Amino acid sequence: MSEHSKPDLLKVLSGETLKRPPVWFMRQAGRYLPEYRALRATAPDFISFCLNPEMAAEATLQPMRRLPFSASIVFADILLIPGALGQKVWFEAGEGPKLGELPSLDALEGEIEASTFKLTPVGQTLSLVRAALEPERALIGFAGAPWTVASYMIEGGSSDRSKARTFAYERPEDMDRLLDIVARASVRYLAMQAEAGAQVLKLFESWAEGLPEDLFERIVCKPHRTIIKGLRDLGVDTPIIGFPRGASSMAQHYADTVDVQSVALDTACPAHVGQAIQKTKAIQGALDPLLLRAGGPALDRRVEQLLDQWGDGPYILNLGHGILPDTPIAHVEQVLKRVTGQ
Ligand code: CP3
Repeated sequence: MSEHSKPDLLKVLSGETLKRPPVWFMRQAGRYLPEYRALRATAPDFISFCLNPEMAAEATLQPMRRLPFSASIVFADILLIPGALGQKVWFEAGEGPKLGELPSLDALEGEIEASTFKLTPVGQTLSLVRAALEPERALIGFAGAPWTVASYMIEGGSSDRSKARTFAYERPEDMDRLLDIVARASVRYLAMQAEAGAQVLKLFESWAEGLPEDLFERIVCKPHRTIIKGLRDLGVDTPIIGFPRGASSMAQHYADTVDVQSVALDTACPAHVGQAIQKTKAIQGALDPLLLRAGGPALDRRVEQLLDQWGDGPYILNLGHGILPDTPIAHVEQVLKRVTGQ
């Protein structure tokens, strides 16, 4: 890759500070776009949509056509892994994900190898997108991090995670084994994504909040290290972004002990925590999706503040969590204009 066409995102992930940071948004493909809603209406259900490479590639590319994002994230979902491991997963309109009974750990273990093959459509999506995307724009693959995925598997859907945390206390060995099973399936899945064209890999730990220090280390940091070591042992040298959402001041411990190239920060992250992490790695974040939806001069002021407080080090502008479905597209354009100058 010539230095000229190396995507800005990859430059920042290798430690460079750019005058204008790269920018992309979590859930940049999705319901705030009318063309997404039209495409989604043609799919029988959300999981088959994610596993249809032509449709998923189209959804991935939709925001790239109309907006100057620096990077594209493959259209898929963190709950494809439990499905591929043999647990029933479905989405009910307006209710979010639902999962069937947790299979036995032996049954899940027995499905690890087959799970990667069931997810090859995601690799095909990545290849289709990479072929269509300009070389200056990076392509991101992802997986849910083990604790977040395991918590959905235990809870059977969205909740406050108390059942999954109780499981971690009452059945520590089973929890560690479940995390390890998800981690091993994720290593294979992410390696497949890198081979298919993902230039960056992201680990979504959406439920890192509210954990005591010892549990944060055991169920968040340790499984992240298992995944990264697994990938490096397979020779996958793709840069990795870790997103321990809600880690609060433990984001620093995460940055110190997990060998990611970048830590994605959530909306509650103070300037100084990001600056401290930035001394050793790139950071990403942390615009509030509610402020993006609200828009107006307060949105411009916050974008200026983020550029000001973090722009002197390796920084990727992004939201602190996913874009909300009722966000006006004009607000997204407003931020991108401010950041890219386009
Ligand atoms: O554009 C992108 O960011 C790529 C696609 C993407 C989706 N989900 C598509 C999606 C990514 C990266 C995810 C990750 C994901 N999925 C996470 C981690 C990030 C986070 O938000 O914390 C989680 C927890 C999930 C699980 C999940 N998927 C939930 C809880 C829901 C329902 C909530 C909701 O927003 O409706 C989904 C559904 C989902 N995943 C949608 C999209 C576009 C909406 C479904 C639809 O269009 O009908």
